[in-house]
Parts: sequence; structure tokens; C-alpha cells
Amino acid sequence: MKRYLVTGGAGFIGSNYIRYMLKKHRDVEIINLDKLTYAGNPDNLKDIQTDSRYKFIKGDICDEVLVNKIMTEIDFVVNFAAESHVDRSIGAPDDFIRTDVFGTFVLLEAARTNKIEKFIQISTDEVYGSIDKGSFTENDPLMPSSPYSASKTGADRLAFSYFVTYDLPVIITRCSNNFGPFHYPEKLIPLFVTNAIENKNLPIYGDGKNVRDWIYVEDHCDGVDFVCQNGRLGEVYNIGGGNERTNLEITDRILKKLEKPQSLMTFVKDRLGHDRRYSVDCSKIADLGWKPKDNFEEALDKTISWFMENNWWWKKLKNGEYMEYYKQQYKEVV
Ligand code: NAD
Ligand code: DAU
Repeated sequence: MKRYLVTGGAGFIGSNYIRYMLKKHRDVEIINLDKLTYAGNPDNLKDIQTDSRYKFIKGDICDEVLVNKIMTEIDFVVNFAAESHVDRSIGAPDDFIRTDVFGTFVLLEAARTNKIEKFIQISTDEVYGSIDKGSFTENDPLMPSSPYSASKTGADRLAFSYFVTYDLPVIITRCSNNFGPFHYPEKLIPLFVTNAIENKNLPIYGDGKNVRDWIYVEDHCDGVDFVCQNGRLGEVYNIGGGNERTNLEITDRILKKLEKPQSLMTFVKDRLGHDRRYSVDCSKIADLGWKPKDNFEEALDKTISWFMENNWWWKKLKNGEYMEYYKQQYKEVV
């Protein structure tokens, strides 16, 4: 049996990854360590709760004692745990520094002491910052522009330093924007899909021409698994979907699929420090033999259908206190 510690496994990508791994491999056992912040949701893993290969531990990656204890029982670490929303990092960066930087440090130290077999650090394409033309390779300088991406950069480079200094078997992945089931409805696609279903406005920041590269979450999970098995230690791998779209294009597709009027589109005050375009060059992982499988339009349609069929999952999340605060702070119509 291969024993994995997945941190942040009750969040969007982590929960999809755990489900994906249990389905794909018979010989894996997974411990999911998650603090259950607002983004961590036991509903995301309801269907696998009774799988004997899966164990959930509610806890903080910053808790040294707990992390050290768990580390004695596992071989692989996949660190998804993070504060992940850029807008929140603009409003209140503290938790981003604590979890994304210090929490990663606690995990790396415990991994070193306990001589784990492999440590996968889930970083992000946002560490490079914005690019007008062309695509970033893994060797490009890191120029993060939000407290979120800066804290992820800290974790990314700290993980690398543990490889160089202590020979810790680290691999780092930098993925582009994910979408799919269980995506928290504060992010662009799930927010717009659920707002449109409810006939509410879709708040587009600035001119809506910012570009993101979208990847279906299952492809990302597959990429992480591939890198864990085939990647070289100490290396960074970009993972992208190859689907660059403006926010206006995404919005248009959502409205058309749901047969909702264009008048739901509302232009609002821009995000502070809003990165214009993300783009990663994925030839390094392609040379190793991996590329994403999902067709973007089909995957987006599938995701929209999932949200239409699962309002039990998202309705209660949208009635939270933060969503009210968020609407007032960032959704000022221009
Ligand atoms: P998410 O916000 O949905 O989930 C984060 C999870 O981490 C939650 O379950 C939360 O409870 C948990 N968590 C937060 N602080 C914790 C702590 N101190 N201890 C233990 N658990 C804690 O995020 P996501 O979108 O699933 O992203 C997962 C990871 O992937 C993050 O590291 C993010 O930076 C990275 N990433 C995300 C994307 C994307 O498009 N969403 C793209 C590239 C990389
Ligand atoms: O690129 C990878 C990153 O993608 C991850 O590291 C982050 O964890 C993840 O949150 C995501 O960051 P973004 O800032 O790109 O995602 P978000 O969904 O917040 O925004 C996508 C684009 O949509 C961005 O240009 C801002 C815009 N937007 C977003 C929201 C929430 C709007 O126009 N209106 C909105 O209400």
C-alpha cells in the first residue's frame, strides 16, 4: 500500500484529487488533513466517507505536533492546503501568510524529520505574475502580484530550498485555473453559474478582458498523479489546460448554456492589482508524456450541468456571512 497525506483534501481540488486517486489506484491509503475553514466542506467527500482506505483528520497544517504524528504513518505528501482566493487575500492577507507559508514550512520540516518518500507542493501559475504575450516557462522569474500569489511563491521556493539544502524529495507543480464540481461559489465560474441560475447579476471586474487558462479539475488531478510518479525530484512542472479565455467569453458561454439574458452581465469596480493574463508553457510536462484530456467546452457544459443538478451543495454556501460582506466590498457597480 502507498500511504498518502493529502492536506486541504476537503477543498475543491483536494476533494476531487482524493476521489480520483481512490478510484484509479487500488493500492493507496489516504489521510486527509484539513482544518475545515469556510472552504473545507465534508459534503465534498460524502460519497467516499466509508471507504476503508480513507481517513479524515480535522486539523491545521500549522500544528507541528499533529503534523509530526501523522508524518510517521505516511510515504507521500501532497500539499493542497492553502487560503486560495485572491479577493480575500486583498481584504485580509494574514491567514494566507500563516497557512500558505508557515503551514508549508511545518509540513516540510516534519517531512524531513520523518524521511518521507516524496513531497508534492501544489503551487500555482499565479507565482509568475501577469504576461501580455507568450507563455511562462518554469525558468522564468517569479513576480507575484497579490498577497495570495506572493504567499504561494514563498511556499514554492521554500519547498525548493528543502530539496537543495536537505535533499528532501520535493516536486513542485504550477497549475492554471481549475473548474469543475465542488468549486466554491466565490470563484468566477461557480459564482457566475449559480448567480445565473438564480437570475442574479454576474459582476465582471473592470473591462472583462482579463485572460485565464482553464483546466478541468480532473485533468489537474491526473497531472499531479503523473508528476508524482514520473517527475524528477527538485523540478517544477507547469500544468495548463491550453484554454485561454477572457472573462467575457466565459460569461457569454455560461449565459448561453443556461439560456439567460446578456443583461445579467454587470460591470463592477476592478480587483486591486488585477493580473491581466496568465499563460504557462507546458512543454516540460508534455516532454515527459502528459497532456490534459478534456475538451474545454464539453467540460464547461458538464460543470454547468453539475451545478444545476446539485443546488443542495451550493445554496447553503452562498447564504454565508462572507458572501454578504463580499458583495458590498467588491461588487460596486461602475
Ligand atoms: P480551496 O480553498 O477550495 O481549498 C483549500 C482547502 O485547504 C480547504 O479545504 C481548507 O479547509 C483547507 N485549509 C485551509 N487552511 C488550512 C490549514 N491551515 N490547515 C489545514 N487545512 C487548511 O482551494 P482549491 O481551489 O482547492 O486549491 C487547492 C490548492 O491548489 C491551493 O494550494 C491552491 O493554491 C492551488 N491551486 C488552485 C488553483 C485553482 O484554480 N483553484 C489553481 C492552481 C493551484
Ligand atoms: O491561476 C490559478 C489561480 O486561479 C489559483 O491559484 C487560485 O487559487 C484561484 O482562485 C484562481 O485565481 P483567479 O484570481 O484567477 O480566479 P477567480 O475565479 O477569482 O477569478 C478569475 C477571473 O475572473 C479574474 O480575472 C477575476 C475575474 N472575476 C472574478 C470574480 C470572483 C470577475 O470578473 N468577477 C468575479 O466576481
